[in-house]
Amino acid sequence: MTPSHRHLLQIEGMHPPQIEAMLDLAESYVLLNRSGKTQRDLLRGRTLINLFFEDSTRTRTSFELAGKRLGADVINMSVSTSSVNKGETLLDTAATLNAMMCDLLVVRHDQSGAPNLLAQKVDASVINAGDGTHEHPTQALLDALTIRRRKGRLQGLIVAICGDVLHSRVARSNIHLLSAMGAIVRVIGPTTLIPAECARLGVDVFHDMNKGIAGADVVMMLRLQRERMVGGLVPSAREYFRFYGLDFEKLAHAKRDVIVMHPGPMNRGVEIDSAVADDPVRSVIKEQVEMGVAVRMAVLDILSRESRRNV
Ligand code: NCD
Repeated sequence: MTPSHRHLLQIEGMHPPQIEAMLDLAESYVLLNRSGKTQRDLLRGRTLINLFFEDSTRTRTSFELAGKRLGADVINMSVSTSSVNKGETLLDTAATLNAMMCDLLVVRHDQSGAPNLLAQKVDASVINAGDGTHEHPTQALLDALTIRRRKGRLQGLIVAICGDVLHSRVARSNIHLLSAMGAIVRVIGPTTLIPAECARLGVDVFHDMNKGIAGADVVMMLRLQRERMVGGLVPSAREYFRFYGLDFEKLAHAKRDVIVMHPGPMNRGVEIDSAVADDPVRSVIKEQVEMGVAVRMAVLDILSRESRRNV
């Protein structure tokens, strides 16, 4: 959140009490959602626009559900990036959205920093739903909520983030959040997919999957983001799976009560074995999706508080 608390653009810079407050509120939305009730008076008369310049299934749908469960009018705008000059289009879009007087703007863009730029130009609260390789703050919050519910805490846990860290905004947001909350973060992957900034961020880097996973409480797998790769950063999918794909053999090095996470979309047989992904005991992948709706309800609730006060 920015100092004004009007936007949610990144996890970097957020303080533990702010994160804790969001997770606590999200917890109450988990219970509300499970009870089948809604709270439609909270955002009644407010407009939420989902502005997605990149593909999405889970994130867009869960923001839509979150907005609707709180009573907002939700509009989905999918924008093709293929034929547009991004700078101009973004500013034009900002002017259009301002004229429509929307209250909450959820933005996904393939350029890092696009939501920050929009936040300077629109009156609405802007929520970053993933920008380039920069951040995906609500994903990190929902991951933290999932871990906290399973493990009872974040502090002191060993979390191994494996795979294409270089292109992953999910990894970046998670590294900031988990480090801030006192977890021990490791990243695992081939040298070509581990960014140099990992050392600066204070995480331990491993290139050997078995060593990186050893003793982990949480193993978080990442998709190979081939659409963001320039040149051949990885060998064949088969070879990649041999070294960095999560199967039960590699997972045996983790703690006995390890949980396995993946933000989706999954490439089964590339970064994760189907049997591990579907393991009813260790895999919490479906729970992550459920937490996504609750976390987004909490974020919409908190960000709209300021403006509700002014009504
Ligand atoms: C991720 C994303 O878009 O950053 N997906 C998601 O939001 N759940 C990860 C990915 O695309 O691999």
